[in-house]
Amino acid sequence: MAKSCFPKCRLGKIMGWIQIVLGGLVIIVSISTLSRFYAVGFFLQNDDICRHFHGPSAAYDSVDMAALTARFNEVLNNIENLQEKLESSVQKMEKNGANQLQNSNISKFEHKKYLEEEVIRPLYRAYIALRQIRLPRVENSTLKEDPMINAFVVEEMRKYITPKANRVGKVNIYGTERVYNTIGHACTLMKEEVEEYMDYDVGSYCKDDWLHGQKLMLHGCDPLPRRRCLSRASKLYLRPHPINVSLWRMPEGRNVRWSNYQCRNFECLSSKNPKRGYSKCTGCFEMEKEKLKWVVNSSLPADFLIADVLRLKPGEIRIGLDFGVGTGTFAARMREQNVTIVSTALNLGAPFNEMIALRGLIPLYVTLNQRLPFFDNTMDIIHSTGFMDGWIDLQLLDFILFDWDRVLRPGGLLWIDRFFCERKDLEDYMYMFLQFRYRKHRWVIAPKSKDQVFLSALLEKPPRSL
Ligand SMILES: *[C@@H]1O[C@H](CO)[C@@H](O)[C@H](O)[C@H]1NC(C)=O
Ligand SMILES: *[C@@H]1O[C@H](CO)[C@@H](O)[C@H](O)[C@H]1NC(C)=O
Ligand SMILES: *[C@@H]1O[C@H](CO)[C@@H](O)[C@H](O)[C@H]1NC(C)=O
Ligand SMILES: *[C@@H]1O[C@H](CO)[C@@H](O)[C@H](O)[C@H]1NC(C)=O
Ligand SMILES: *[C@@H]1O[C@H](CO)[C@@H](O)[C@H](O)[C@H]1NC(C)=O
Repeated sequence: MAKSCFPKCRLGKIMGWIQIVLGGLVIIVSISTLSRFYAVGFFLQNDDICRHFHGPSAAYDSVDMAALTARFNEVLNNIENLQEKLESSVQKMEKNGANQLQNSNISKFEHKKYLEEEVIRPLYRAYIALRQIRLPRVENSTLKEDPMINAFVVEEMRKYITPKANRVGKVNIYGTERVYNTIGHACTLMKEEVEEYMDYDVGSYCKDDWLHGQKLMLHGCDPLPRRRCLSRASKLYLRPHPINVSLWRMPEGRNVRWSNYQCRNFECLSSKNPKRGYSKCTGCFEMEKEKLKWVVNSSLPADFLIADVLRLKPGEIRIGLDFGVGTGTFAARMREQNVTIVSTALNLGAPFNEMIALRGLIPLYVTLNQRLPFFDNTMDIIHSTGFMDGWIDLQLLDFILFDWDRVLRPGGLLWIDRFFCERKDLEDYMYMFLQFRYRKHRWVIAPKSKDQVFLSALLEKPPRSL
């Protein structure tokens, strides 16, 4: 029985080899076409040829041709190596002769191993590398290309500066479709707008264009360039309330320039007003509501009290960061406990920065695009609420969490406050928060609605003696 099967099995094996060889040929043909194209100079930085191919359009100006060429060469080399290997295998088979081939023992396992290691894996790597090369897309003859991606070879860098789209169907806090992790390079995407921003008379007054600047930041031109013009202030600026009352008294509306908001005073920002002009952190400009946060037991088990958190480490929590959208109430409560908190704030439809500052607290005007401006192992606590939720791309969240981990000191606390997402996405996000193996002081998941859940966690960064 075994003998009668023998020729059939061999035949199958030979067919397998023929398939591989054919596959190799297909690759060779397509690569040689590509290289011929390449040899013509399509991908080279040659102005004449570019003009010849594309006409006088400036579309390709901002693509780094040298980097692109380097990436192509890398992939071409890989595929060439693969081709040589396959060819030499085939030649060996021919030299051995068909008879010997039948008699020689290539076990199925070896056969499989060869396919996996020598063919499939390199092919896959080449395929991935090809996919990662960003060719510029020409739409209406204007360039829609993420700048500088091909200037980097290290994959992690390329990942970092690739804009991260919101999760499907989700709106992010900035009202943009993606978050632009930036090393400042994205300014070139908005050349005209940046130049408009920098168009002023040196030494004179700036235009009242902070909103234009903020838009640039949110779309990745972050940090903004410095300017040599004088920023405008409210004509009616009064001195702020003294510190013994400023934390909990609404500031004077006259201390804010209102021209770029829908409202013209603080009263108008009330959650009762449907035309208040902002949607995140509704009610944050109403002190009666703010006064309850983090000090009064709420009905939601995902809400922790500041007193309970500080009791974990009496006297040890002294400085920290509140990453979120708000008017500084968390920082105000912490200040009462002698803890100094810096609050991130963007003026998304309301004067969040001014409000925080007028309360006598520190607003930090940063976006999610950037590494935090703190050194490693410095903060006692990072608190985050109202900012990140189920819209956020997992890779983006990963970069952010690693940055927070960097900034937290050993023994520091990470307080994730009311993070929410779709129930089905919870596992993914939970993994993100748990991957650092922090000590879990509290971990609460509570329903938000039928399909959504809240996650609150109080985690402690372990010591790392490396
Ligand atoms: C082929 O394999 C069989 C059993 O797997 C073994 O008995 C035989 O010696 C091998 N022949 C050669 C040429 O390796
Ligand atoms: C340019 O793009 C817009 C929207 O994508 C499209 O409606 C329009 O037809 C395009 N114009 C040309 C000249 O291709
Ligand atoms: C706040 O401080 C000022 C001056 O330091 C003082 O005159 C005022 O009475 C204080 N107000 C309250 C409510 O403590
Ligand atoms: C909150 O509730 C807990 C347990 O029910 C209780 O021990 C605590 O005193 C309450 N705290 C406040 C500020 O009401
Ligand atoms: C904060 O510091 C002041 C001055 O050192 C002290 O009087 C007060 O008791 C402290 N408050 C708390 C809550 O520790």
